[in-house]
Amino acid sequence: MNMNGGVSGLARSVGLGMITGAMLTGAVLTSTALAQLQANQAEFVNTLMPQPAQLTAGSGRLALAPGFSVSADKFHDDRLDGAIAWALERLRTQTGVSSGGSPELVVSVDGAGEAVQGVDEDESYSLDITAQGAHLHAATDVGAMRGLETLLQLVQSDGQGFWLPVVSIQDSPRFRWRGLMIDCSRHFEPVGVIERTLDGMAAVKLNVFHWHLSDDQGFRIESRVYPKLTGLGSEGQYYTQEEAKGVVAYARGLGIRVVPEFDMPGHSTSWVVGYPDLASGPGPFAIEYGFGVFDPVMDPTRESTYAFLDKFVAEMATIFPDAWMHIGGDENNGVEWKQNAKIQAFISAHNLKDTAALQAYFNQKLLQILKRHGKKMIGWDEVLTPDLPKDVVVQSWRGADSLAAGAKQGYSGILSAGYYLDHMEPASAHYSVDPVPANSGLTPKQAARILGGEACMWSEYVDPRTIDSRIWPRTAAIAERLWSPQSVTSEDDMYRRLAVESLRLEELGLTHISQEEASLRALAGTQEIGALRPLAAVLEPVNFDTRSKWSQAHNVTTHTPLNSLVDALPPDPPSRHDFGDLMSTYLQDPVAHPEEEDELNDTFRSWTAQPELIELMSASPQLAAALPRAQQLTELGTLGIEALSYLSSGVPAPAGWKGQKLAILDEAEAPVALTRFTVLKALRDLVNEVR
Ligand code: ACM
Repeated sequence: MNMNGGVSGLARSVGLGMITGAMLTGAVLTSTALAQLQANQAEFVNTLMPQPAQLTAGSGRLALAPGFSVSADKFHDDRLDGAIAWALERLRTQTGVSSGGSPELVVSVDGAGEAVQGVDEDESYSLDITAQGAHLHAATDVGAMRGLETLLQLVQSDGQGFWLPVVSIQDSPRFRWRGLMIDCSRHFEPVGVIERTLDGMAAVKLNVFHWHLSDDQGFRIESRVYPKLTGLGSEGQYYTQEEAKGVVAYARGLGIRVVPEFDMPGHSTSWVVGYPDLASGPGPFAIEYGFGVFDPVMDPTRESTYAFLDKFVAEMATIFPDAWMHIGGDENNGVEWKQNAKIQAFISAHNLKDTAALQAYFNQKLLQILKRHGKKMIGWDEVLTPDLPKDVVVQSWRGADSLAAGAKQGYSGILSAGYYLDHMEPASAHYSVDPVPANSGLTPKQAARILGGEACMWSEYVDPRTIDSRIWPRTAAIAERLWSPQSVTSEDDMYRRLAVESLRLEELGLTHISQEEASLRALAGTQEIGALRPLAAVLEPVNFDTRSKWSQAHNVTTHTPLNSLVDALPPDPPSRHDFGDLMSTYLQDPVAHPEEEDELNDTFRSWTAQPELIELMSASPQLAAALPRAQQLTELGTLGIEALSYLSSGVPAPAGWKGQKLAILDEAEAPVALTRFTVLKALRDLVNEVR
């Protein structure tokens, strides 16, 4: 394990262990060396993410050199040609193969797939690789895209070059709706960020980009019918209609649907800044810079509100061809409705029980508008009210229970509770959340109503520089949960493959690995950040609630720069799982694991080298705020070295030692500069093992 922040244990680097320097220095390999190289031929190591439904590995390989050609022998169109060219370009970058020549990949596709990709698009494919060539078969372009991503993930390498393993794969997704939502309201994300995110999504076979385009903090899509939406509601940060259409086309080229969200009737401050007549409160209104739930809410009692929304939805339908439009519907606090006498009178006159019933009335009217413009409705949990029509899809953010309850009543739904990326949970936590858990109690018919799930990237604390490390690589674990068979559950194997997929995603243009180093350099004001690495490697951001409370207390807004140590640190860095793994192996039987003991000792020693780290941190205002962490790291290192020596020598620790060390661990749990340690649980296990 490399505790300096690097990814270790890369399965692809196997096979070179036996080759000596002498073999490689000569211009020509001796026959003995060649024989040794062949004897070292690596086996196929499965790093597929997501895992396919069925894979049979044979023996042998298809060498990728010097050329590799692809032909579509049945149907092809621009989209398929584009997908093949993109896959070939990535293959060439990785392996150096040129196009043309042999071996050959034959892509047999039956037809284009749906003109507007829908929830029932056929994404299945089969991929057969023999020593002579490869054959990909799919019913649609989209299935072929999924298969091409699998092919790229199959590439293996060893001292002899790059190759594909002999395998036979039959694959199709477990769930039809596998999405990622990005909130572009609280922090705007330029088109380039969206496009590279779409590339990453396609790489792990996600198929829905849910684009949260409006909220209290900003209205992010150009309306020509209502120009003041962005004119007064966006501070100039919005997507033009051409840009949005470009994103839709780009996503289609990757087999990804784009579902836009316009959050109504609450979370709507940015609408009413330019159009106060839509609001239930008196106004005037200003863009909200803070975070939380705010009072502005549309007035559901006025016909003019619906006339406005009718024209707006009509306009948006020309940009977003997807069958679904997301209407938000979450977190309306009802305050403006309670304070407005006219609205209260309306509630009485219509025999509505409360503000929730009034929102249900609003949703019914909105549903008619969506239908008029050929759109189906999806909304967050709160839209699920007693007389909601059964064709509205519910996106559950409050818990899997409400999703199951909806399915029992006949509603289709998708799960997001458990997939909130802003909560800063480890990939393993998301991975363990199943949209239809084994104990769901749903009949097969009810379970079939659960269409899938979406990871959610709310953007209070992400900006274009940090968003990649908040989305990736953890979203790949969620993507696997949504695509792969339910039986694929090994956490250790997920982390093994995630480390490889993380590198592949970075190679694709995402910056979740490189940004940490760049940010640390910027924070330290020097390229020489070696002293910072051992500390940075074992820190991660605090959870959402802790950051949220701190931010409220410190008046953090959308304009507060995200340039502190916490923003540089990725959630769930490799140290958390790797260190935990190393520790649990060691603790199984300390005396029998001298190698693990050495590795732990090396790590602990790297934590105690302080003067340079303190000098570096003291010279930077943002790093200085985290200085207590440097002192704590020394204490943790010292504690670790002592614990190892007691365990290896069998000498008991002095009275009081354990209590004192557990107190150090307790203290290290408290947030400092919005960071937390990744290694405390493993250290606690270590200390508790000492007699
Ligand atoms: C939500 O988290 N308010 C959907």
